[in-house]
Amino acid sequence: MPSDMGGGLDERGAAAELARLREQINYHNYLYHVLDRPAISDAEFDALMRRLHELEASHPELVTPDSPSQRVGGRPLDAFGTVAHEVPMLSLGNAFSEEELRSFDRRVRGLLAGEPVSYVAELKIDGLSVSLRYEGGVFVQGATRGDGLTGEDITQNLRRVKSVPLRLGLGGLAREVPRDLVVRGEVYMPVPEFEDLNRRREAAGEPLFANPRNAAAGSVRQLDPSITARRALDSFLYNLVLADGAAEAAAGVPGSHFARLAYLRDLGFKVNPESRLFHDIDGVLAYCDQWREARHSLPYETDGVVVKVDSIDQQRRLGSTSHAPRWAIAFKFPAEQGITKVRGIFVNVGRTGAVTPVAELEPVRLAGSTVSRAALHNEDYVREKDIRVGDWVVVHKAGDVIPEVVTVLTERRTGDERPFEMPEHCPACGARVVREPGEAAHRCVNSLGCPAQLAEGLIHFASRAGMDIEGLGSAVITQLLGAGLIADAAELYRLREARDKLVSLERMGEKSTDNLLEAIDRSRGRPLHRLIHALGIRYVGGRVSRVLARHFGTLDALMRASPAELTRVPEVGEKIAGSVSRFFSEPRNRELVEKLRLGEVNMVEPRRDVGVRTQGGAEAGGQLGFFGPDAGPGAGSDAWSAGRPRHAAGAAEPFAGKTFVFTGTLARAERREAESLVESLGGRAASSVSSRTHYVVAGENPGSKLDKARELGVRVLTEDEFWSLVAGGGP
Ligand code: IVH
Repeated sequence: MPSDMGGGLDERGAAAELARLREQINYHNYLYHVLDRPAISDAEFDALMRRLHELEASHPELVTPDSPSQRVGGRPLDAFGTVAHEVPMLSLGNAFSEEELRSFDRRVRGLLAGEPVSYVAELKIDGLSVSLRYEGGVFVQGATRGDGLTGEDITQNLRRVKSVPLRLGLGGLAREVPRDLVVRGEVYMPVPEFEDLNRRREAAGEPLFANPRNAAAGSVRQLDPSITARRALDSFLYNLVLADGAAEAAAGVPGSHFARLAYLRDLGFKVNPESRLFHDIDGVLAYCDQWREARHSLPYETDGVVVKVDSIDQQRRLGSTSHAPRWAIAFKFPAEQGITKVRGIFVNVGRTGAVTPVAELEPVRLAGSTVSRAALHNEDYVREKDIRVGDWVVVHKAGDVIPEVVTVLTERRTGDERPFEMPEHCPACGARVVREPGEAAHRCVNSLGCPAQLAEGLIHFASRAGMDIEGLGSAVITQLLGAGLIADAAELYRLREARDKLVSLERMGEKSTDNLLEAIDRSRGRPLHRLIHALGIRYVGGRVSRVLARHFGTLDALMRASPAELTRVPEVGEKIAGSVSRFFSEPRNRELVEKLRLGEVNMVEPRRDVGVRTQGGAEAGGQLGFFGPDAGPGAGSDAWSAGRPRHAAGAAEPFAGKTFVFTGTLARAERREAESLVESLGGRAASSVSSRTHYVVAGENPGSKLDKARELGVRVLTEDEFWSLVAGGGP
């Protein structure tokens, strides 16, 4: 629809429709992100959002701070402003044992002269504490804890956290919304999001976050809110701060902390569902015991239990010391650290030839798993920590990241420990290992012939972020290389000729062989950006690959580009430009590209201007334009910018995180094209249905995948519904 669609309404009509739309959207957002109980389809939700954007575009004076449109946008800041906390944000005292928790209970009961005391036990969320201010029920300011008295103004970024309500009292749930209100809690990154983020960072050669907490803190403290938007953050709120007691009574705020949690939930906040009320400390201790192990199955990290006196009146009488309340304490789970011995230090050769030391440890149980290796990163790291073979060390595991050595217990040294020496020759190919000036890493110089680099490069090529070849992991790649069936990535596309040999490989068999060959076939149709990523050009990760693919449209155009042309591409600096042109000037790499072409691998980026909605809401969609030499004159950057995606503004990857499976014959595109399209919109196209599938698209004569989808309760779309989703800009 053209953006002047809202123009037909007069100001009053527009204001009324906008108010209605905002309420509807905020309510459905709450059902989806807070209660996890959506009531309308994603396409219906998108339609509401589109209408909101249209109306606001033609009536910019009617945009309000609680409008859902304000979850996007916002300019990068130079620095954060500061926010003074009217009521200080205190920290908590800690208890590390049952005895310390019992002594907290005795202290509380002593101060309350034998009154009955109830406790609320809550999980201590390992995130970043935040304070949210609402005026007249509208979110107006969000701040970090800072030093407890003054924090940073992170309002823009907190608007991006979808479970943070922009307006309170949705759907008439709460009795009455207090006029001014401050709510405190935790913003965190769910563990699956964290793992995904680190996988993307690893693929892009960016440093990894050590744990979800750091990732959340790094994301919330981004000056550019669009970066925060790309990191899915969530929230749990647990504290209501009202300076004036009288105001509380008037607004009907309950006098029990446990009841307040329910009250916060009714106002529209996301409240952790695991909190419990206990009338004695034994119940609290049992709760702590239960979560010590059970916490590892939660999708977020918790490092303890916070125990709070339930009665707000008792809390007030107990008061606080200068830094912590007397009515609450944090029971900390045992640290995820252990002591073990370094059996040896070996080096690993990566895809780019980086030779990295790894410690082999005596196996030790840490945070629910057995650890027998620790990353040592590079030579300087080993030197600084002075880690020697035979040393006793403290190892630490944060999140699901590879464990690290925290410190060496030098007092346990016997004199038999051996310092680590970086090898002068590559353990895989014997070539020289050098350290380039200004770099921390050592590298094997044999970048074209080293088998370890080749194997790692192939693993990267086939990985999910690359050509996404299901079933082609490191074990199979090692087998294929070992059997001499492939010598480079392009030879994967000739494996069909060697089917008999494949079948006879250990653990392969007929079925696995055919599955593998089909997965390889499917990968031929991946969009260009995946191929660019899969080639493993240094400094070219997922994001840069997309930018390059969109800009140049074809691999040939990219290969022809001079370094100067490359640096004219947004987000491409000299380092990347140099690396890309070096890569393509290497005859072996050019040969590889030609071999891939012979293997019928797609080298074109699909255009995304499909499914454009017309005025009447009908679609004129489905034209799958492809860039390429035959895309006509001007097929290049200009053609692309002219045909910019017409999806919701800013939603560059509207299908991000969604997995689609196609079954049956599609009427409006080849299945491979539809799969490419899903991928070019940031989604994933898989070949089989599992509980992780988001949508099954059923064409004509669907197969057993449809039954499977129904069995698993996976959402089934008709082909038409699929195209409306594409046209609408995402699920
Ligand atoms: S109550 C005055 N409850 O832990 C009351 N804190 O070590 C202060 N935290 O800064 C906080 N989950 O960031 C409370 N359920 C929870 C919590 C929690 C995490 C954090 C909070 C605080 C820190 C204190």
